[in-house]
This record gives sequence, structure tokens and C-alpha cells, in this order.
Amino acid sequence: MTDQVRVVDVGPRDGLQNEKQHVATATKIALIERLAKAGLTTVEATSFVSPKWVPQMADASEVFSAIQRQAGVRYPVLVPNEQGYRRAREVGVEEIAVFGAASEAFSQKNINASIAESLQRFEPVIAAAKNDAVAVRGYVSTVLGCPYQGAVPVADVVRVAGTLHRMGCYEISLGDTIGVGTPRQARAMLEAVAAEVPMSALAVHFHDTRGQALANVYACLEAGVRVVDASIAGLGGCPYAKGASGNLATEDLVYMLDGLGMNTEINLEALIEIARWINGELQRPASSRLALAGLER
Ligand code: HMG
Ligand code: MG
Repeated sequence: MTDQVRVVDVGPRDGLQNEKQHVATATKIALIERLAKAGLTTVEATSFVSPKWVPQMADASEVFSAIQRQAGVRYPVLVPNEQGYRRAREVGVEEIAVFGAASEAFSQKNINASIAESLQRFEPVIAAAKNDAVAVRGYVSTVLGCPYQGAVPVADVVRVAGTLHRMGCYEISLGDTIGVGTPRQARAMLEAVAAEVPMSALAVHFHDTRGQALANVYACLEAGVRVVDASIAGLGGCPYAKGASGNLATEDLVYMLDGLGMNTEINLEALIEIARWINGELQRPASSRLALAGLER
């Protein structure tokens, strides 16, 4: 395994959306800019969802307008509907992510719509994006289990992922929203989806709730995936998924990828510094392995 891996840092969005205390807009901006400087080529910047649902992301327009964008770096944002799309475009967003789920129960709790309704809602958003040459990423949540319905049939994951891809999403990120999956299951799910959507258009997104995220990534790398979502300092969780802890920490992921000889062009030392800095900003102790251990031996 010596390929290039693209790491998508979702920390500024998935990482911060669940923070109870308001995080200063300036801190969010600095986080995005520092991640891009460290070599991340995709930084999920924020989320244009309803501020009634996710108050922490209410400053999405301020955040996005203020970031100094770097050439060659993509800054996707979450968009749930046409209203979110309009807000995003007003501040010059060039890539969005729509987000659906493989579980009906989670879809209702998270976006107040059935799976079918959500796909219908994405249609005009994707059409507008196509018209504006805006790239669209698609998420499928609860791919390995749901906090409300329990088990999620793989066929449902395949169906939603396939539909989003056919609708025009260039990449589908498969989310283990509450971190319940284990490596063999993760790999089997990925391979089932890859029978419908090309592997080159798939990404994996593991929350580390039960300490399985890195092992799950490894299993999926072996199966051929080359895009991996992670969150600086392992921040995060979904406000509508009880028990969803942070994503896999970007620095822990990059340490493994470096060890595997898989090129990411990300500066690991800089990442560790950012992780320690954001932990300080949020007034919490470091939790990722690399932020704790550092690189010194
Ligand atoms: P709703 O209440 O059914 O929608 O919410 P609505 O159209 O009735 O709107 C309610 C109010 O929100 C209205 O305001 C709208 O104007 C406003 P009011 O008239 O009451 O004053 N509104 C908006 N405001 C700003 N921007 C918007 C917007 N839309 C409506 N875009 C809705 C439906 C989808 C809007 C809502 O459920 C929502 O925003 N949900 C987002 C939940 C969320 O962000 N969850 C976390 C992200 S998903 C995730 O973390 C998983 C992931 O990481 C992958 C994984 O881990 O699996 C991606
Ligand atoms: Mg997530």
C-alpha cells in the first residue's frame, strides 16, 4: 500500500458543531487556516444548517467570508436545503456537501425528513450546484449502525450511496456516525457499496467512540479506499446522535499513513501543534494519542 491518500479534515465542522460553549468565530477561522497551512488539501469549513438546530454553526457566513483561502485547497461546507445553498453561495462557497442517512430513524432526527424526502430536497440543491459549477460531496450517515434503529442493513447503505452518486455527488463519504463498527464489518460494507459506486468515488468517515476508527480505516485502505475523513484533535460528535464522540483524530491517522508509506503531504508536527492549540482554546486536555505522546521518542 504505497498510494496517495487524501485526508479530509472535518474538525471545523463535525468537530465543533457539538460544542456546548460558543467557540469564537476568530478561533474557527484560525483553525481552518492552520489546517490548510499544515498541508490538508480539504478542510470542511462549516455548515449552513438551521441555527435553530445547530447554534454553534450560526456564524457560518462570517467564518467562510473571513478565511484566507489557499490555492489548491478545497473548503466544502454542509448544506441541508436550498436556503443553506443560497447562504453558502452568498459568501462564495465553491464546494458543498449534502448529507443523508441509511437509517430512517436517524434521518428524521437529524434533518426532520424521511430518506426519500431528503433525497428530493437535495435534487434542486444539486441542480443549482451543477449550474454554478459547485462541486457536491454526499454523506451517508449511520452506515454501520444507528442510535435509534440499531442495525442498518448494508443494502440500505448501498441504495442511498448509489442514489447520491447518480444524482451527481462526485464523492460519497460513508459515516459510522456513532462509532459502532468493527473492521471486518466496515470492509464488507465498503466493498458492497463499491459494487455500486466506484471505489475512487468513496470516502470513509469513522467516529472513534469505541476505539475502532483507526482499525476500520486500515481495513478499508486494504479494500482500496483512498479518501479518509478525520478531525483534528479527535474533536466532535453529531448533536442528533446520542453517544457520537469525536471522529478519528487527524494526527493519529496521519501517523499511521506515514508509517505505511502512504503519502499525504501533511506536516504531522504542525498537526500536533494545532491539536494542542485547539484543545487549549476549548479548555480541555488532549485526547488524541499523538497530541499526548508527541513525536519525541
Ligand atoms: P426544519 O425545522 O424541518 O426546517 O429543519 P424548516 O424549513 O421548517 O425551517 C425551520 C427554521 O429554520 C426556519 O426558520 C427556517 O428559515 C430555518 P423560522 O421560520 O422558524 O424562523 N432554516 C434555516 N436557516 C438557515 N439556514 C438553513 C435553514 N434551513 C431552515 N439552511 C433542517 C430542517 C434540515 C433545516 C434542520 O433539520 C437542520 O438544519 N438540520 C441539520 C442538523 C445537523 O446539522 N446535524 C449535524 C450534521 S450531520 C452529521 O454530523 C453527520 C456527518 O458528520 C456524517 C456522519 O458522521 O455520519 C455528516
Ligand atoms: Mg460525522
